Amino acid sequence: MSVPRARATVARMLGYVPGEQPTPGERVIKLNTNENPYPPSPSVLESIRRLEGDALRRYPSPMADAFREVAARVHNVSPDQILAGNGSDDVLQIALRSYCGPGDVLASPNPTYSLYPVLAELADVRFITVPWEDHWTLPVAALLAAKPQAIFFANPNAPSGTIVPPADVATLASRTDALVLVDEAYVDFADTNCLGLISQYENVLVTRTFSKGYGLAGLRFGYAIGHPSVIASMAKVKDSYNCDAIAIAAACAALDDQSYARDCWDRVRVERTRLTRELGRRGFDVITSHANFVLATVPSSVDARDLYQALKARGILIRFFDKPELQDQLRITVGSPEENTALLASLAELVPSPAEA
Ligand SMILES: Cc1ncc(COP(=O)(O)O)c(C=O)c1O
Repeated sequence: MSVPRARATVARMLGYVPGEQPTPGERVIKLNTNENPYPPSPSVLESIRRLEGDALRRYPSPMADAFREVAARVHNVSPDQILAGNGSDDVLQIALRSYCGPGDVLASPNPTYSLYPVLAELADVRFITVPWEDHWTLPVAALLAAKPQAIFFANPNAPSGTIVPPADVATLASRTDALVLVDEAYVDFADTNCLGLISQYENVLVTRTFSKGYGLAGLRFGYAIGHPSVIASMAKVKDSYNCDAIAIAAACAALDDQSYARDCWDRVRVERTRLTRELGRRGFDVITSHANFVLATVPSSVDARDLYQALKARGILIRFFDKPELQDQLRITVGSPEENTALLASLAELVPSPAEA
């Protein structure tokens, strides 16, 4: 007997590489995976404490009905327009498997969230990327030219933090029958969103997560909002019980406490402005961000990978993407004021000031 061989696609592929996670108890300043620097609303922990044993003894609601009700109220849609998932990554996977089969095409602008090609590869779906147009404009014609069954992009985009106006997404959606998935993982930190398009374009699906805006990356909860028939198709594809009872209760409480969440978003935006300004003073070229991170091109005297390593040696984690188009860039999550101050202090020591360079 020998070790069974994984299917050819799986054997060949690298798999998604998540940002580093420190071991429990390790003290680091963690600015590498775009978590919220603030904890979830106190009502979230309260909702978990209130759970009774019976809620865990039984299977959870297959469609997370309690959450659908809350989300429908908050977003002013009907519950059958909501599909919950075990993090928005789960929702992305369900959407892809619902609309693309082997040999079909998933198209995305490049660069964008690096999970999309992995999901496509796993499903034997062809992943076609097209470069963003100037100023991170949505490349509508090039995306359509790929003749895709589905188009995925993050808005605000990762890792750039840039945002596409809803009018451009509407143009794209109006010119195709493909599923247009707008991944709004970071939308809580932006000024616009694409929810309003759902009532006009049946092919637009918006995905959201609790990992960024609600301080709940450890919980694993995300959802999609779209046309009821899109949601019904996706419901056939998802695991029967893809959200557990604890996550459903916590997500309801988190979404219900909008004022707490909004306060966190405002604080992050204030710090984003400071981080952008201070990095600019150090000679970094920072793209205006609509998310809870910034993408900074390092000064020409600096090697981005070396700087990432030097910060890591000091216990500060940021993200360096080893991709040709991102070699001179670093993605930095907006942390708490104290964390950002510590980062800037280290940069002041590690990066020659523009006057010295
Ligand atoms: C653009 C984008 N979409 C989705 C996700 C995943 O979110 P979740 O934690 O809900 O799976 C991330 C995580 O970094 C992301 O950057």
